[in-house]
Amino acid sequence: LCTFFFLSLVPLELSVQDSVEVLLGAPALIPCHYGFGPSSQEPPFVMLQWFRSPGNSSRARIFYGDSGQQLVDNNTEYSERVEVISETNRSVLTIMDVRLSDHQREFFCQVNGLAAGSAEGKTVLRVFGKEEFKGPILRYFFLVLHWRSSSGLFTVQNTLLLRVQKETRDALFSCRVSFSVPGDVRSLESSPVNVTVHYPTSMVELWKESPPGLLREGDTVELRCQGDGHPPPTFVFTREQPDVPLDSRGDVLILSSVSRKDSGLYQCRPGNPHSSSEAKGEVQLTVHYLDAAVVVPAETEIMFRGEALTATCNALSSLPTTTAWYKDGRIVGTGSSLLLQDASYHTAGEYVCEVTVPVLPALQTQSKVHIIVHGAPQMQSPEQEVRMEQPTGRVLNLSCEAQGSPPPTLSWSLSAAQSWEEVVSRSFSHSSLSVVSIRVSADFSAVCNASNDLGSEARVFSIKSFLFGVFIVVIILGLLLLAILGSVIYFLHKKNRLPCGRSGKQSITKEKGNAKDIVVEMKTEESVLLKAVNGDKRAPTEQVQRPLRTRQEIHIL
Ligand SMILES: *[C@@H]1O[C@H](CO)[C@@H](O)[C@H](O)[C@H]1NC(C)=O
Ligand SMILES: *[C@@H]1O[C@H](CO)[C@@H](O)[C@H](O)[C@H]1NC(C)=O
Ligand SMILES: *[C@@H]1O[C@H](CO)[C@@H](O)[C@H](O)[C@H]1NC(C)=O
Ligand SMILES: *[C@@H]1O[C@H](CO)[C@@H](O)[C@H](O)[C@H]1NC(C)=O
Ligand SMILES: *[C@@H]1O[C@H](CO)[C@@H](O)[C@H](O)[C@H]1NC(C)=O
Ligand SMILES: *[C@@H]1O[C@H](CO)[C@@H](O)[C@H](O)[C@H]1NC(C)=O
Repeated sequence: LCTFFFLSLVPLELSVQDSVEVLLGAPALIPCHYGFGPSSQEPPFVMLQWFRSPGNSSRARIFYGDSGQQLVDNNTEYSERVEVISETNRSVLTIMDVRLSDHQREFFCQVNGLAAGSAEGKTVLRVFGKEEFKGPILRYFFLVLHWRSSSGLFTVQNTLLLRVQKETRDALFSCRVSFSVPGDVRSLESSPVNVTVHYPTSMVELWKESPPGLLREGDTVELRCQGDGHPPPTFVFTREQPDVPLDSRGDVLILSSVSRKDSGLYQCRPGNPHSSSEAKGEVQLTVHYLDAAVVVPAETEIMFRGEALTATCNALSSLPTTTAWYKDGRIVGTGSSLLLQDASYHTAGEYVCEVTVPVLPALQTQSKVHIIVHGAPQMQSPEQEVRMEQPTGRVLNLSCEAQGSPPPTLSWSLSAAQSWEEVVSRSFSHSSLSVVSIRVSADFSAVCNASNDLGSEARVFSIKSFLFGVFIVVIILGLLLLAILGSVIYFLHKKNRLPCGRSGKQSITKEKGNAKDIVVEMKTEESVLLKAVNGDKRAPTEQVQRPLRTRQEIHIL
């Protein structure tokens, strides 16, 4: 008894692992080591039992062994799946085909050495399944992020409850799960999910997309509406009357070929009838216009020479305008009125007034007035009477040109019976021209009378005729007479000298063939005479007499 007591004081040493981790389906080996203190003697009889933790009932034994027998208990769920290998101071419980239900089970190793005492150790079995990860699933009740896995394995599910904001619309959500595997901790991250956030429209904007700049009648206008809601709502466009929707396409309203009547305040608002949003966009459209220019006086206006007239030009426009007047392509005035003073025939013509809108050059209009200037006939040259002397027989052109509007009618009247014909007769816008061709036969006067509705003016041509041919004949005959007279005097003089010496006469006859010099002298005389007849104005008598003197000297030779 004393010995027993002593022995009983020597503790039995037993060690087990706190936990054993094993993959689902694999065998789990749970070792249990035991021994006795060195001072104690190995007991002759050792009982070893394995228990499993209580499920919902009490703790149950699964194995019993001693030196004599090894038996597996028949009435537990492990009866078919356990094996125990017992050695000197070690027992290993092997659980085959580990199941999920084995997870967190506690296995107790109990050694009873009688006098050597007893001891017990506990090992927890951890079972790991192969991880199966299902990504996030979105459900909208507000927003709930569900995260689930299937199968009978452990399911870890986490829900993110989030109050979404507009700003959340662009956020990407993902979840990460961390889990243990035998000997390690791992994590998996889901692919990102896109949270569609719906929110009402709180702000709407409406603007003119095209055309840029000011609008004019005839333009095609595109209005665009945009709101900040999601998803983007459809829009209803209205003008002034909110109940009358305009025919629009999505967020665009097209107004084709606008007129001034299309000016006004345009609005757009979300088209969803359930939307409580009061948000709306507005834009004021002004369609500019320029009406046709009106010129006063209109079309054609008749002025009399010297008169003054003020023409005006006006065009109704929604914008400030500028007016310019043109005549023959040149600018003649600016401003809505044009003063035409002291009208002359130069004043006559077409006046074009052009009205433009400086800020919108595409707007322009023009109109015109035709100014006609009327005036009584007025001869082109100032002198009223023209006097001239003309030789008889000459064909004379008399020209008569008169200004006036309407163009004057030119009529000729001749005093004497002259043969005449009109060779030119022309009328221009403010003048007329007539040329008559007259053969002069006697003195006469011709009157050109220019007349129109407003009056008449006449021009008189007085022609004195003379015989030009008789005058010439008289001069020529006079000269011939002088020449003959000269010749007579010469021969008479020669006759008087001949009796003084025969030799002279003979020499002339003898040397008939050699009398060149004398013949030459004679020719000279003739040429001098002819020259005088041909009208050399220098005193012809003088020239005639000079060769007579010379001839005396030649005679001596
Ligand atoms: C038995 O256990 C003791 C102490 O635990 C140890 O010293 C001894 O070596 C073991 N014997 C065998 C055979 O393993
Ligand atoms: C636990 O109790 C339930 C009924 O309450 C029974 O079906 C089940 O077999 C019990 N489990 C164990 C291990 O005793
Ligand atoms: C278990 O059953 C077998 C046969 O059915 C029997 O031989 C054995 O003794 C039983 N063991 C226990 C502990 O009852
Ligand atoms: C989010 O979802 C929307 C609509 O399903 C899609 O158009 C968009 O590309 C997604 N964004 C990302 C980052 O996946
Ligand atoms: C007179 O005028 C006509 C027509 O222009 C012309 O043919 C003719 O030669 C003129 N005669 C004289 C003498 O100038
Ligand atoms: C010119 O003609 C007009 C109209 O035919 C006439 O009234 C006027 O007396 C005439 N003048 C002369 C100078 O012949």
